[in-house]
Parts: sequence; C-alpha cells; structure tokens
Amino acid sequence: MQIDSIRVDGGVCLQGKVKIQGSKNACLPVMAATLLTKGESQITNCPKISDVFRMKQLLGSMGCIIRESSKGITIDTSRVQRKKMPSEAVQSMRSSICMLGALLGRTGEVYMEYPGGCVIGARPIDMHLMALEKMGAVFRMEEEMIYGSVENGFHGADIEFSKVSVGATENALLAAVLAKGHTRISGAAKEPEVQALCRYLVNCGAQISGIGSERLEIEGVETLHGCKMWIPADRIVAGTYLFAVLAAGGSAWLEEAPCDQMEAVIEVARRMGAVCQTGEDGLYVQAPERLQPVRRLKTGVYPDFPTDLQSAVLVAALRAEGVSEIEETIFENRFHIVEPLRDMGANVKVLDERRVKVWGPSVLTGKSVEAWELRGGAAMVLAGLMADGVSTINGYRYIMRGYENIAKDLTELGARVFSVREA
Ligand code: EPZ
Repeated sequence: MQIDSIRVDGGVCLQGKVKIQGSKNACLPVMAATLLTKGESQITNCPKISDVFRMKQLLGSMGCIIRESSKGITIDTSRVQRKKMPSEAVQSMRSSICMLGALLGRTGEVYMEYPGGCVIGARPIDMHLMALEKMGAVFRMEEEMIYGSVENGFHGADIEFSKVSVGATENALLAAVLAKGHTRISGAAKEPEVQALCRYLVNCGAQISGIGSERLEIEGVETLHGCKMWIPADRIVAGTYLFAVLAAGGSAWLEEAPCDQMEAVIEVARRMGAVCQTGEDGLYVQAPERLQPVRRLKTGVYPDFPTDLQSAVLVAALRAEGVSEIEETIFENRFHIVEPLRDMGANVKVLDERRVKVWGPSVLTGKSVEAWELRGGAAMVLAGLMADGVSTINGYRYIMRGYENIAKDLTELGARVFSVREA
C-alpha cells in the first residue's frame, strides 16, 4: 500500500497540543558528517521522514553500519569504503550534496550524480565547488555526474562567500575540520542547522570558533571520534503548525518548538494579531478573532523570516482582513501554490518572479489539488484546513520528505486530516 494523498475536511478550529519533531535540515548534514569520524555516533531525536531514510541508504552503501533503537540511530563509520552511491537516493534529495565534502574528507574521492531536491529554483552548486577547490579538490563534470578528488587531503584556505548558502557553508566546514592548517569562512550561513552541525563536529573533536556568526575559523585536526548528538526540534515544522492555527483559527501548544530560533516568525504572527507565549519547553499560539494582514514581508537568511515558511504564511494571510505583499528573496520558483489556491477561490496574484500579493479575507472551497514540493505541499494542507468542504492534496510523498506525519499532528490539534491509501 502506498500513501500519496491527504484528505482534509476543512472548517474546524484547532485546539490542543502537538510535539514538534526533530529538525530535518539539522539531522541530514550531521548524518553525512559521521563519515568523517572513526567510530560510533549516536544520533537521537532524528525525524522519521523519507529524506532521513534515504540518507541512511547512502551511508549504508558506503559501508556504514546503522542500528536503530527507540532512542535514535547509531552510525558506525569504522569501515567506510569508496563506492558509488545509489542514484535514486542522491537524485531525490538536496542534502546528498553534503556527501561531497564528507566523502572527499574521508576517502579523498567522490563520484556521484548531481543532487536533487525540491523544484523551488535553479539550485546551483558553484559555491560548494569553489570552496572545496580552494581547499585542494579537483572536479570533473560529466553529463550527469560529478567526479571529485583531493590528493593528500584538504588544506586550509581563506573562503569568502559572496552570498549566504547553508549547504556551501556546511560543505566547507566538513572539508575544513580534517584539513591541514587553518580555514577561515567569511560570509558563512548562521542558520541554526549550521550551528547544530558545528556542535556535532566540535563534540567529535573538531576545532571551530565563531559558531553562529558569519565568520567561522577552523583549525584542522588529525582525526575525529564519534559522539552523542541530540537533534534540535524543527523550527520550520513548528512554524508550519503556528500558521496552521492562524489559518484555521483556535489555539495550540507546540511542545518543544525552538522559540529562540523563531523570533522573526513569532514577530510576524504577533503582527497578525496572534497571542504567542514563548518558553524553553515550547510555544503557545492563539489566533485572534480577526486576523491582521502581514502587509509587507520579505524572506531572508537567518535570523530573518525563513523562505521555508513563505508558503505557510501566504496561506494564513488569505484569512486576514486586508492586503499583504510577500517577497521571496532566496529561491526564484517558490510560488507553485498560487494557482491551486486560486482554484480554491483565493484572491492572490503573482506580481513577478519574486513577489506575490494577497487580498484578504478569501473564502476557500475544498478542491483536489497537487503538491509539487515539500513546503508548498504542507501549505496546501493548511489551505484545506481553512476551506469549506473536502480538499484532497495529491503528492503526499513530497510532504513526507520533511514532516513525520502531518495528518496525525494536525489531528492531535482537532483537525480532520487523513492520509489516503492507494493500492
Ligand atoms: C537549505 O538549502 C535548506 N535545505 C533549504 O530547505 C532552505 O530553504 C535553504 O537552505 C535556505 O534556508 C537543507 O538544509 C537540506 P542555500 P540549500 O545554498 O543549502 C543560491 C526545505 O524545504 N546558491 O542556502 O540548498 C541558491 O540558489 C529546504 O527544507 C548558489 O547560487 O540552500 C539560493 O538562491 C528547501 N550557489 C541561495 O544560494 C550555490 O552553490 C541559498 O541557497 C549554492 C546556493
């Protein structure tokens, strides 16, 4: 049986509590980083999502031994071999790009397909290659393959990124921790997921300073050992459920939501009239009777409003009384949801490649719609919560890449959301 759609019976206010899963974008690079260590790492609070399953496949294909327990996963990297990774796993997720830095660092060689991922923009890898080349790697591009090698290991370098890239910063870090000498990364991404990777590497014996700033200094060490790592809660999943409450009405306790990483998101929710109470153990959110528009909102790199919540806030803005304009500054192809929302009756228009305008409030009617990518798909589930009648969101496989069980989580908040099984 394969699940590929979600049915939402809309029009129910949310009420209740839900525990926020571990972060996908923190977990995947940490899993890749285990390749640089010799020994065992125990990673707890891993989200049970399809991208983590694929990363396990990739690591398994390299000779890592992976054991699962109720606490999480243990990855034993003592016997890593040079092998070609399974194409399907590489091509279906963007995080496989972390394998470049990790495998070159461990084995001196990598041969892989171009990484895949969501259809949200061109997603070039020039910055990843530039950083690794500066540290001594040589790449040869074949039709659909990347072949990379580094003779006698990486050496330290001065790397300056002209644009902030989470993935390129992570790859540069992975290469630098075992490099000979000192590496400086300027223009580094400050995202909490990059910080989590730094914490894991430091616990394994790496020397990194400037964590959380745009300048990272790394002194290469000879070897890294395994360690224990707890994956922090997913700020994007927490933000999705926060905007679900604003879209559907009601209130919710988002247990373990990482409030300290969500300041810009909480600020926007408050601007829309929500009551938000933050604590170390989670976030309480209550929708107002009359939702205010966001007016103008721009996505940006951390600590600004995350691009991964742009679709969710757009859906919530449909219920607000007034006009909102949202500008996407990170990815150029993130308005796939506008057409299906318009089909459901939303008064929303794409102004240009980067800007979308919403005239609220819109009354939505349940429809059968397609999800084309992860965050847009989750936002369509939110639209289903708002709509009158039944909505079917097809393409559940995209949502499963990042949400453990969105149907169960929203059901815990009182919504009527079901995954539909197909033969
Ligand atoms: C990470 O993608 C996340 N993915 C994305 O989350 C997230 O949207 C993004 O960071 C921004 O926060 C993972 O962590 C697995 P970038 P990443 O490199 O690293 C350009 C989700 O839904 N760029 O920071 O791929 C790029 O085109 C996903 O969970 C280059 O020009 O993003 C973009 O405009 C989707 N050249 C900008 O930089 C490069 O070599 C930022 O991208 C690399 C990137």
